[in-house]
Amino acid sequence: MISKKEITSLLQEKDPHILETLWQQADVVRQRNVGPAIHLRGLIEISNICRRSCCYCGLRAPNEAVKRYRMSTEEIIASARTVFDLGYGTVVMQAGEDGGITEEWLCQIISSIKSSTPLAVTLSLGERTEQELAAWKSAGADRYLLRFETSNRQLYTAIHPDFGHTVSNRIELLAKLKTMGYETGSGVMVGIPGQTYEMLTQDILLFRELDLDMIGIGPYIPHLQTPLGQIGSEQHPEQVPNTATMAYTVLALCRLVCPQANIPATTALATLNTNGYAVGLQRGANVVMPNVTPFRYRKLYEIYPEKACFSQDTIAASEVLQKLSIKNRTIGTGPGGRSKSS
Ligand code: 5AD
Repeated sequence: MISKKEITSLLQEKDPHILETLWQQADVVRQRNVGPAIHLRGLIEISNICRRSCCYCGLRAPNEAVKRYRMSTEEIIASARTVFDLGYGTVVMQAGEDGGITEEWLCQIISSIKSSTPLAVTLSLGERTEQELAAWKSAGADRYLLRFETSNRQLYTAIHPDFGHTVSNRIELLAKLKTMGYETGSGVMVGIPGQTYEMLTQDILLFRELDLDMIGIGPYIPHLQTPLGQIGSEQHPEQVPNTATMAYTVLALCRLVCPQANIPATTALATLNTNGYAVGLQRGANVVMPNVTPFRYRKLYEIYPEKACFSQDTIAASEVLQKLSIKNRTIGTGPGGRSKSS
């Protein structure tokens, strides 16, 4: 098992040959543990309304430059149908932390999708109450994604202002999601201002400790309408750079540390690097989450600027391998949960 010291040292590695070896090793471990299948998750960004003020995110409540939207029931159900028609196994409903996404409303939508398609349903809706999370699980939701962003409490608190009286504790919430029976995903951004190699090492070790089913890793991309986007990155020697190379290294280390996890080649990676999806898939990743949000809403969901996507609209499962020019891989069929790597 890879040690803490090795992780910290690889995170700071500059030798391209050693990095290349790490990336290849991650590819081998991916093949051995989760096989050749690339699982597709269709992402529907159901609302960009958010009550939080996370210091890095363009959707933060105080950003008045954002035109806010919430998709209607009909639009969401139609998009989920598109996910199925495109040949994907999972639909992901993501939103800002929008109080207008009520417990009952989402229960209806989840039930409707589950009764009309075989799709796995993943939710990514921020920090919600235990009651809401339990209700959505009962309505048929299978998975929940909630990145803890950093395991360092001081940095976490600095970039996640509390909301009213609720103290934000995503790590605690992840444990609760697991007991509720959700397949649970988390992750971090690479290169947040203030993030050190030591902190990032702890993040990776926490992925293992939490025994996550999914791990999302993307580079931090500054957004000008946020407090962090305006300060520019500090350049002290311990600061983790927000480069694509750094993100690939973290992704590869995640594969070594959590060999069975589902790990996406993220959109943030594809935003920094035109080949980000394909390269990520060859350095440990086994999942891609193409955007299926109706086109008129996509540009409004600006977590960070210039978000990548496959094309103007949607991409069928059968076209993905060719589009990415990827060899020796297959497209996953079925929901592609953690234990059933079909
Ligand atoms: N750069 C990169 N990723 C970001 N996210 C939010 N803001 C940014 C940004 N500026 C990521 C967070 C969040 C996920 C949905 O998007 O990790 O959990």
